[in-house]
Amino acid sequence: MDEVYVIYWSSTGNTQAMAEAIGEGIAEAGKKAAVLEVAAADVSMLENQKGFALGASAMGAEELDGEMDNFVTEVETFANGKTIALFGSYDWGDGEWMRQWVSRMEEAGAVVLNGEGCIANLAPDEEAIQACKTLGAELAKI
Ligand SMILES: Cc1cc2nc3c(=O)[nH]c(=O)nc-3n(C[C@H](O)[C@H](O)[C@H](O)COP(=O)(O)O)c2cc1C
Repeated sequence: MDEVYVIYWSSTGNTQAMAEAIGEGIAEAGKKAAVLEVAAADVSMLENQKGFALGASAMGAEELDGEMDNFVTEVETFANGKTIALFGSYDWGDGEWMRQWVSRMEEAGAVVLNGEGCIANLAPDEEAIQACKTLGAELAKI
């Protein structure tokens, strides 16, 4: 993959910071990263990619925001065989939204990179930023 897409939804910038760190990891691994808010993305960008990253914070009651949820529903139609890195920020929960998202992608036939999402409590700390960079580098290698 020459260009690696990182598509995210973020309300206060926490998941956005994670997306940017994933983009840095992709760039450090020698690939070009396209880091885009879901509002600026179109699923057609992803259809021909081997892999990509999707991020969104926990909203509702352990749910994706509606805009990302709709996007993910479209991704499910061609997710079979793709490698998807999932990430996002949460607060008071225990990561349930991410576990559900991982299952949803796996049920659509995707391989979730590392078998789990990369999550950060509120604003990502240095450790979480590093984990995001590593995720980006791993995604760049597929
Ligand atoms: C309307 C609303 C619903 C939320 N629902 C959850 C939730 O179900 N579980 C959770 O752990 N955090 C929940 N949060 C907290 C956010 O996930 C958290 O603040 C996160 O850091 C926001 O990241 P963002 O800036 O990338 O959107 C909610 C926040 C808001 C405003």
